[in-house]
Amino acid sequence: MAEHVYIEDIADHVGETVTIKGWLYNMRSSGKLHFLELRDGTGFMQGVMFKGDVDEELFDKTNYLRQETSIIVTGTVKEDERAPFIPFEMGISDIEVVAEPTQEYPVTHKEHGVAFLMENRHLWMRTPRQVAIMKVRHEIIKAIRGFFDDRKFQLVDAPIFTPAAVEGTTTLFETEYFSQKAYLTQSGQLYMEAGAMAFGKVYCFGPTFRAEKSKTRRHLTEFWMVEPEVAYMELDEDMDLAEAFVQHIVSHVLEHCKDELETLERDTAPLEKIAQPFPRISYDEAVEIIKENGGDIEYGADFGAPDETILGEHFDTPVMVHRYPADIKAFYMRKDPNDETKALCVDVIAPEGYGEIIGGGEREWDVEKLEKSIEEHNLPMEAFEWYLDVRRYGSVPHAGFGLGLERTVAWMCGLHHVRETIPFPRMMDKIIP
Ligand code: 4AD
Ligand code: MG
Repeated sequence: MAEHVYIEDIADHVGETVTIKGWLYNMRSSGKLHFLELRDGTGFMQGVMFKGDVDEELFDKTNYLRQETSIIVTGTVKEDERAPFIPFEMGISDIEVVAEPTQEYPVTHKEHGVAFLMENRHLWMRTPRQVAIMKVRHEIIKAIRGFFDDRKFQLVDAPIFTPAAVEGTTTLFETEYFSQKAYLTQSGQLYMEAGAMAFGKVYCFGPTFRAEKSKTRRHLTEFWMVEPEVAYMELDEDMDLAEAFVQHIVSHVLEHCKDELETLERDTAPLEKIAQPFPRISYDEAVEIIKENGGDIEYGADFGAPDETILGEHFDTPVMVHRYPADIKAFYMRKDPNDETKALCVDVIAPEGYGEIIGGGEREWDVEKLEKSIEEHNLPMEAFEWYLDVRRYGSVPHAGFGLGLERTVAWMCGLHHVRETIPFPRMMDKIIP
């Protein structure tokens, strides 16, 4: 039997007879020729079967192969600029059928509605567009890890079961934990703060959960977040870190995901334009800009999706908004000593209407102020005793942020909705498959 190769490596096998193990994605025939679109998970390519090259029975049988039949295909690789997917083609000499579909394959080549595709997410995943998105997601994950690993941040994995809220009590998922109540984590931040005091600079990267009851194109109930935290870091350096980080992701995607972005028909011009420094504006300045551009934000309120879209479009590049009103932000935020009504926080808002991708800032490091804030937010003090210890024993200023992976993937890929950015999205009305 010929050597088994993957489609992604096919360029190294021009002129050779090799085997591809995969599935039939699509087929068309014209008299003496069958054109088979093959996929093997690593790529898609065309195979051509010429009537004169194979025995008649095989040629006739091939005519009846259906979409998603699993097949092992042997043939000779040649270059062909005109071929679909990649500039290579296989001249097929043999096909072994592994399994025929037992039913008609539902995700056909005609247009399907999103609801139907979401119900068939486990099959929809096989299509070129979805494969491309998952490859970009993987590259972004590599860029994220590379960025922090190269800067010698210590990886500290945060727990999923937690005793209390981080980001407000309205989006908590509650679960039984033996005889206690527990919540799925909303953010690993509090644990990273303890980690920063042990390792100096740390990050975690994992799934986080929020019972988001609104259906929007930017919210999932289960999403991945990367959260760096650094001891002795203040807001300006936090913004420097966030800026370098976002730039790194954009550059990495442009360099490593050319083919995928082409499959997705992503116009890369807006991404190529992105360059440091990113504008840094205060909440007050942001409100002015939103108002000047037709938004109807009320001073003091948090930004809604339309406000973020106005900001993103105004700057054409990621913009960092700092010093929001403290009372619309989380309990742990440090207040600006120059204006106690403001928090020393920052949100990074992506261009092109993708909204907030990063939230972070300085943490309150005075134990008494933090205790007071926990009380004011009606949070259960017992659950935070360990967190207060981080301030009781050698407290230092510290800061960090969280970047949402799915919103970043949506932005890089140019996707309207975050549901396509994660293999199996979880939303208010979606838990199957
Ligand atoms: O702004 P958030 O709520 O910040 C935190 O959780 C901080 N504790 C992070 C930190 O400082 N360590 O969330 C951070 C990011 C948002 O900017 C957004 O990109 C993403 O997480 N995010 C969501 N992504 C998808 N679906 C949701 N429901 C999201 N909620 C937040
Ligand atoms: Mg936020």
